[in-house]
Amino acid sequence: MKPPFFWRSPCPVVAPRLLRPADAGGCARLHATSFAHPWPAEEFEALLADSACVGDGAGEKGEVAGFILSRRALDEAEVLTVVVDPAIRRGGCAGRLLGAHLARLAAFGVAKVFLEVEEGNAAALALYRRFGFSVEGKRKNYYARTDGGRGDALIMRRLLS
Ligand SMILES: CC(C)(COP(=O)(O)OP(=O)(O)OC[C@H]1O[C@@H](n2cnc3c(N)ncnc32)[C@H](O)[C@@H]1OP(=O)(O)O)[C@@H](O)C(=O)NCCC(=O)NCCS
Repeated sequence: MKPPFFWRSPCPVVAPRLLRPADAGGCARLHATSFAHPWPAEEFEALLADSACVGDGAGEKGEVAGFILSRRALDEAEVLTVVVDPAIRRGGCAGRLLGAHLARLAAFGVAKVFLEVEEGNAAALALYRRFGFSVEGKRKNYYARTDGGRGDALIMRRLLS
């Protein structure tokens, strides 16, 4: 049996690749490891087939070790989700994905990128701040947490031009 990719390659993110609808199952499996309300594969398939959506993934073809997905509208984009396999976190995967993704969005003519992040999500907040995002506002009780409670969302923005 083929071992999991992260045993073969501890750093599968040298060159993030553009995600395709065929990656929907891998995205859904990974998403389910990290969110209280996982998105089904059908939803990822529809998003990845949508020309307004841009997805960058890490991992060999057919495997998704990490990914980031955004939707474009005119010169703005919203990051819909970003997830990295828990087994390889703190290894630079999200940083490489986000860097490549912002460059790809800029090449599409995107000038402003928005995202929402739970106020208590220290890892994600640190990642976004490191990439130049700043807090623009807050949505109260926006997120359902895995412990059954609700969490506030911070709205963050980064200018690309
Ligand atoms: C947030 C997440 C994507 C980060 O992925 P990662 O591959 O571990 O991140 P990286 O190793 O590339 O780290 C890049 C930077 O992010 C920050 N960071 C990442 N994880 C962190 C943590 N646990 N604590 C503090 N800072 C962290 C650091 O600034 C880090 O840079 P550094 O390593 O030089 O200090 C990952 O923790 C994850 O998938 N979490 C669950 C899903 C989630 O919450 N997504 C965001 C929803 S808005």
